[in-house]
Amino acid sequence: MTELDFIPKNNYRLSIENGSFTWQSPSNIALVKYWGKKDNQIPANPSISFTLDACKTTTELKFKKRDLSTEPVLSAVEVLKVTSGFSFDIYLDGEKKDDFKPKIENFFKRIEKYVPFIKEYHFVIETKNTFPHSSGIASSASGMSALALCLMSVEKLLIESDVSSSAVETFQNKDYFKQKASFLARLGSGSACRSIQGDLIVWGKHKEIEGSSNLFGVKYPFHVHENFKNYHDTILLVDKGEKQVSSTVGHNLMHNHPFAEQRFAQAHNNLSKLIPVFKEGNLKSFIEIIESEALTLHAMMMASMPYFILMKPNTLEIINKIWTFRKETNHNVCFTLDAGANVHVLYPKREAEQVIKFIQNELVAHCQNGHYICDRIGFGARQLTMNS
Ligand code: DP6
Repeated sequence: MTELDFIPKNNYRLSIENGSFTWQSPSNIALVKYWGKKDNQIPANPSISFTLDACKTTTELKFKKRDLSTEPVLSAVEVLKVTSGFSFDIYLDGEKKDDFKPKIENFFKRIEKYVPFIKEYHFVIETKNTFPHSSGIASSASGMSALALCLMSVEKLLIESDVSSSAVETFQNKDYFKQKASFLARLGSGSACRSIQGDLIVWGKHKEIEGSSNLFGVKYPFHVHENFKNYHDTILLVDKGEKQVSSTVGHNLMHNHPFAEQRFAQAHNNLSKLIPVFKEGNLKSFIEIIESEALTLHAMMMASMPYFILMKPNTLEIINKIWTFRKETNHNVCFTLDAGANVHVLYPKREAEQVIKFIQNELVAHCQNGHYICDRIGFGARQLTMNS
């Protein structure tokens, strides 16, 4: 697949006046991290993630054909302000969120070439998350993937309602819908392309993983040992505040970073090392690779110019307690981090009882207001309602 495969070959007939679609899409947690990107959201290295289950976004996309002849004529000043020409409103938990508009506008600009119908409709985007907005859990992966899936449903409807269109065949390839949804989601937020499917997703070209692509996420194609089925992820909410440095800024600091090339090579190597680990169920090696990835991600931040630290004292307290507990009990519990202070505690299902006790007795004290979220591996997004 190339980028050109996602550009519609024919014009849409736009025979559908209005409708709505709803998708629910999960968050994901990277094991090998995406940190650094090239133009057009192409990752600097491949990454792999567990798709989550409980942390998800539900998005309803209502669409209505625009009648441009009745839309108010804009003054020259207004035209300059509304340069993109997209028409949409966005709501979070029923509340209008104009401050989300620039991000969506930017997303629409990036994807317009691939879903050109978006200029022809007015959209109402109603979204809600299962996790609190101010939890420090990024909603961009689940949010952008849910929106991308809704847009794909609209495209499919438009194409399939036009019986004369040769593009109907495109959707007969059963992978096309998900691949293009992942492709679009990536243009909204890189990690979002790993949220369409589950349970283990690779994004970025890797020489040993056939079918892997920089353009979209694919299901990890090789054998995965029982040990990794149903893996648990308890997310400890150490700091629920807004991040001081956004991921996008952090990614950009990998340009001219003194350790960038070594880091990108290391990500390729770590993914190679994980292949036999997943096959054989080697939990000790898994832990070593995953924790090293998390700490390297934050080491890259600390070695950027300007440098920054997203971990908090409680992040380190938790890491040290996990290490002590693991040494004392030999339980296969480990941590990973995303671009923030929160800690994802990962462990196999069969050790859940003891690990959850440890989390409650020793780690929850380091969470802001004692808050944490119990999650586990999930199987990807699902559609909630059909066009109505
Ligand atoms: C540390 O996907 O949030 O979570 O593409 O700029 O939207 P943008 O970045 P984003 O970066 C995620 C970085 C990470 C690691 C990962 O998920 O692989």
